[in-house]
Amino acid sequence: MQSTQLVLHSLLRWGVLIFGLWAVINAITGILHKRSYSANDNRSSLFFMIFCDIQLIFGLILFFTGPWLEKITNGMGEVMKNAYDRFFVVEHAFMMILAWVLVHLGRPAVKKATAETKHKKMLLFFGIAFILIIISIPWPIRSEVARPMMRWFN
Ligand code: HEM
Repeated sequence: MQSTQLVLHSLLRWGVLIFGLWAVINAITGILHKRSYSANDNRSSLFFMIFCDIQLIFGLILFFTGPWLEKITNGMGEVMKNAYDRFFVVEHAFMMILAWVLVHLGRPAVKKATAETKHKKMLLFFGIAFILIIISIPWPIRSEVARPMMRWFN
């Protein structure tokens, strides 16, 4: 049976992606149209950060309550040899935490930046975080680690 945490972690990914995309689009259009930084820009990155925070919490719950810790204590050598285990224990966890750190560094960096550089800073921090998230999701096309696009409570 799938856990509530797994369903929520799967569903919340869409919130992360929607608000991440919104923040990145705002950054790009802001640079292209030399628009001044607006409340809308701030809102997009705030929602992106909030969804990343919630996702981190559910990710950590899954990590510490699932089979993963036992696999680690059985030996990292075995984990690294198995593509599926390596993905969830090392790659997914590390890249998503890195993305989370970038989002958290990005918000104050944008706040401190001058009016001319705010959108560039937005694109730098949130753009890289967004790419890391996209490439670290276990999409159904990723044969070895494939997970569904959507889960629902049952
Ligand atoms: C933006 C951040 C994140 C996104 C978008 C994300 C997305 C996902 C998705 C889509 C899945 C597959 C869910 C399914 O099977 O339907 C997954 C699984 C998983 N994620 Fe994340 N994740 C993020 C952050 C994290 C973090 C920070 C951790 C903690 C280390 C984590 C730990 C896990 C684990 C352990 C699984 C496998 C759960 C299991 O089947 O036991 N995730 N994640």
